[in-house]
Amino acid sequence: MGEYKLLLEHSHDPAYATLAGYQAKGGYAALKKALGMERQAIIDEVKASGLRGRGGAGFPTWIKWNGIPKDKKGKHYLICNADEGEPGTFKDKQLMETTPFLLIEGMTIAGFATQGDAGYIYIRGEFVDAAKALRKAIDEAYAAGLLGKNILGSGYDFDLYIHLGAGSYECGEESALMSSLMGERGMPRLKFPHVPLPTISGVWDRPTVINNVETYTCAPFIINNGGNWYASLGASTKNSRGTKIFSVSGHVNKPGNYEIEFGTSLMDLLEMAGGMKGGALKACVPGGSSVPIMNAQQCDGAIIGYEEMAEAGSMVGSGGCMFLNEHTCIVTFIWRTAQFYANESCGKCTPCREGTKWLLQIMERIRSGGGRSGDIELLQEVCSQIDGRSFCGLGDAAAWPVAGAIKVFRDEFEYFIEHGRSIVQSAESARMLPESPVVAVS
Ligand SMILES: Cc1cc2nc3c(=O)[nH]c(=O)nc-3n(C[C@H](O)[C@H](O)[C@H](O)COP(=O)(O)O)c2cc1C
Ligand code: SF4
Repeated sequence: MGEYKLLLEHSHDPAYATLAGYQAKGGYAALKKALGMERQAIIDEVKASGLRGRGGAGFPTWIKWNGIPKDKKGKHYLICNADEGEPGTFKDKQLMETTPFLLIEGMTIAGFATQGDAGYIYIRGEFVDAAKALRKAIDEAYAAGLLGKNILGSGYDFDLYIHLGAGSYECGEESALMSSLMGERGMPRLKFPHVPLPTISGVWDRPTVINNVETYTCAPFIINNGGNWYASLGASTKNSRGTKIFSVSGHVNKPGNYEIEFGTSLMDLLEMAGGMKGGALKACVPGGSSVPIMNAQQCDGAIIGYEEMAEAGSMVGSGGCMFLNEHTCIVTFIWRTAQFYANESCGKCTPCREGTKWLLQIMERIRSGGGRSGDIELLQEVCSQIDGRSFCGLGDAAAWPVAGAIKVFRDEFEYFIEHGRSIVQSAESARMLPESPVVAVS
């Protein structure tokens, strides 16, 4: 299967980022249609579409929208998670820069369906171009009566704000994002079942829908064409419907964002990206740096779908797909990943705060040639103490890559510990590897 361009169909046309250009391609027909529908009917279409959140967890979108109280007793809010901090993922950035009205229209439809008063697009601080494109588009939408008071004469009022974060990975975690949005430190909060879901008590303790950029941009297509049409895409998979954008990077000839229909094979995705560069396929991290790494055998025959990728040994995640060639040192790749998570841990809970540093220190020791027998087991033990025992998902995200790599590439760890150097000795890999400071570990 080749590319299936739905969200990205017009992303290479600069006019599509203007209101006139967007409307010329059918933009805002979905909002007009939605404003004439019962709110529940919109949610039912989203249910029929089978849309699952594109931020990483794949949670059914309609359940969130349906969870917002129908008897409105105060303000309702929407949040768009545009933090996109997962290493390897850059699809939301492109969507915001090239198709800003899709996001705005999608959020307005979601707002109408859930009786939202205002929406906040929480954008990662480094995404200046995306924020500028959205600012321009939001201003145009206000001027045309597509945002603000009495949208298109429907009586529905909806305001949309942009909030720039400060570039913290943890602020992509939804409860930390809400804390940050409210002006607090970007740390996660206690969650369901200990406290109500965000749909009941989210930002400013009000009912809140929080979805990823790509998730909201699907809404206009679902309303225009119907949920059943959307669900016909990906119908060959167990429970993954529609399209998904994968940000393909690593040792490929044509890195970039590729939109595919669920059910496409991972090897087809690699082909779309121009195939491998500099050597044969050795490994793939298909869904962003936090998901388990796959070896070439696992990649062969892997089908892209939430359940299918789990069966193949990894996850769809956020769609940050990194292909690595045969000259890649997996130990170094994992060391770099561990460094990222240790840096990004917010420090609130002990398993993650301490565990991510220990993982990094042990990886550092191995990589600097001082690995000890028992280090692999020690890494596994630390991973098992972090995974499922941390306050938020960052802990799991830090443990999975290390535990996953040991499972699939254990021989590379053993070789490094025994010989004090990588199993991969090519000049190319030596150039690729950044220097690491040696950290003493007792
Ligand atoms: C550490 C961490 C970072 C996250 N970063 C992001 C992010 O950058 N963007 C995103 O959409 N979701 C991110 N998520 C997932 C969000 O918490 C949340 O599940 C998502 O925004 C829900 O939207 P969706 O249902 O449309 O996927 C992150 C989760 C964790 C644990
Ligand atoms: S797992 Fe704990 S320390 Fe790590 S980011 Fe979440 S709350 Fe912070």
